[in-house]
Amino acid sequence: MAEDRGQKSALRVLVVCLGNICRSPTGEAVLAAKAAARGTALSVTSAGTGGWHVGDPPDARMQRAAARRGYDLSGQRARQVDLADFYEFDWILAMDRSNEADLADLAPPNADATVRLFLSFGEHGTVDMPDPYYGGEAGFERVLDLVEAGADAFLDAVDAR
Ligand code: 4NP
Repeated sequence: MAEDRGQKSALRVLVVCLGNICRSPTGEAVLAAKAAARGTALSVTSAGTGGWHVGDPPDARMQRAAARRGYDLSGQRARQVDLADFYEFDWILAMDRSNEADLADLAPPNADATVRLFLSFGEHGTVDMPDPYYGGEAGFERVLDLVEAGADAFLDAVDAR
C-alpha cells in the first residue's frame, strides 16, 4: 500500500463560490498549479452554490486576468454543488462566509468533507474572497493575489500534516 512506503494519498479538494465562474475556477487552477510545482498530491475541482451559470466557461474577465499570470481557465465549465460532494472530497473550501453558510445548510450530518474558508489558512487581512463579478478589473487582480496567497497557505498546512 502507498501508506507503507510513507506516501500520502492524494487530497481531494473542492473549491466553492457562488457562480463557479470567477473565484472558484481561479482557486482550482491556482491550487492545481501550485500543488504540482511543489509535488503535493492533490486533485482539485470547483463548483458553485448557485445554478445560474451551469455549463458556462469562466467569466472572460477572470480568464484574461488569470492568463496574464499563466493560469489557463478556458477548459473549465461551471457546475452546482451537490450532496455527493460532501462524501467525495476531503476538503471543501468556501470563498466567502455566505458560501460557507450555504454549504453548512446543505451538508449531510455524516459528511466526510471538512468545510473551511479558502482564506482561513494563514493571515490575509480578510476571510472573505471579494466577489469581483459586478466590479472592475482591479477586483479580478485582487482575487488572484488572494487566491495565490491562500493557496500557498493551504498547501503549507496540508504539507505539514
Ligand atoms: P463567483 O462570481 O461566485 O466568483 O463565480 C459570481 C458570478 C456570478 C454571479 C455572482 C457572483 N451572479 O450573480 O450571476
